[in-house]
Amino acid sequence: MVEPLVAGIDIGTTKVAALIGLVEGERVSVVGAGLARSQGVEKGIVADPLALGERVAEAAEAAERSCGRRIARAFVSIGGSHIHCRNARGQAQVAHPLRGVEPEDIQRAMAEASAMAMPPERQILHVCPRGFWLDDSVHVRDPIGVAAYELAVEVHMVTALRSSVRNTTRAVEDCGIEVAGLVSQALASAEAVLTDEEKELGVALLDIGGGTTDLAVYLNSGVWYSCVLPIGGNHITGDLAVALHCPLEVAEDIKLRLGTCAAAVAAEGERVRVPGFGANTTFVERAEIAAVIRARVAEIFSMALRELKRSGLDNLLVAGVVLCGGTANLPGIAELGEEVLNLPVRVARPSRAEGLAWVVNEAAQATGVGLLVWAAREVRRMPPVPRRRLWQRFERALRSLLPGEVGR
Ligand SMILES: Nc1ncnc2c1ncn2[C@@H]1O[C@H](COP(=O)(O)OP(=O)(O)OP(=O)(O)O)[C@@H](O)[C@H]1O
Ligand SMILES: [Mg+2]
Repeated sequence: MVEPLVAGIDIGTTKVAALIGLVEGERVSVVGAGLARSQGVEKGIVADPLALGERVAEAAEAAERSCGRRIARAFVSIGGSHIHCRNARGQAQVAHPLRGVEPEDIQRAMAEASAMAMPPERQILHVCPRGFWLDDSVHVRDPIGVAAYELAVEVHMVTALRSSVRNTTRAVEDCGIEVAGLVSQALASAEAVLTDEEKELGVALLDIGGGTTDLAVYLNSGVWYSCVLPIGGNHITGDLAVALHCPLEVAEDIKLRLGTCAAAVAAEGERVRVPGFGANTTFVERAEIAAVIRARVAEIFSMALRELKRSGLDNLLVAGVVLCGGTANLPGIAELGEEVLNLPVRVARPSRAEGLAWVVNEAAQATGVGLLVWAAREVRRMPPVPRRRLWQRFERALRSLLPGEVGR
């Protein structure tokens, strides 16, 4: 039997990642991957779909070359602070109470939950069910087949600006790739890094990327809150360029080679050479570099804490906070996070998938890997084509090849 292949395209502010995965039962394995430098994306929002389209094509072709498979259809990530969330509740009478709840009953309850007045410029991205209640009191996770008269559902809804959805879709479609679905970056990354136990106990995911920080909060195995903060690792680079009076590339290089969030890094007086503008070269203390980085990262955590308090869930996060995204690679970031957030913090890799080590061991690939996990779930949800129908299709195709059978 041929195992299905799935694809994901993560459109970030700094990079575009195209990943190809093989779905094997419950597991998904990354078999192909391609990266391109991003262009035309500002703080997670697609500002120039044409320029971005070229980068998507570059990443997709690299992924295709790496494994000899073609990407015809892909799940695509969407970011930016235009992405909003809200929670809602809906209910429906069960059509055949004693036969048990059927998928159509769930659909009606979900439709009621998501029916809300929405400005015309916004559209729904996700309606994630968080829990079901039968006959107004019994909480169940999966109500299918359980006898009840009334079904209620609580959902987490994610909405986005239509224009951003259009620009993102266009950049991918222009490369001849069909968009199977758009997934908010926060929810995609959560799929790749969070364990079922963390989601059950209460956890916040923070994907600190280049231009944005995505936040998603899970409790009782469902998502309760998600948002996008327009701040990320590029702001750290900008701060360093200002503080050290150097070009952005120099600041980025220093951040990647020597950057840290640890308070006591440097031996007293350890100095770093900084090539400035023109022939200007200066020397700065390594501790000064760390201080600039710490200040900005602490600000990112403070903004995240404000959102956690707004969600009302900050005291319920038994499993603490999980970090991913490229900026999570900064040494000492978990300790700084614990200081600011007053919660346990761990740095995660996208370990919910297997396969290419450079992908599943890299915190910046969380969103891309999450898209594959998401896609794999969709594949599993699709009813398999019965064998008899497969044979009929094959037979029909064969007959159409025989002379005199055309148009039968
Ligand atoms: N080892 C490292 N130390 C410090 N920062 C790093 C390291 N590796 C990557 N980064 C930073 O991570 C950021 C890129 O992260 P990532 O690839 O997750 O972002 P993105 O997905 O392109 O953007 P976004 O999700 O914000 O739209 C850059 O700012 C980069 O400088
Ligand atoms: Mg990202």
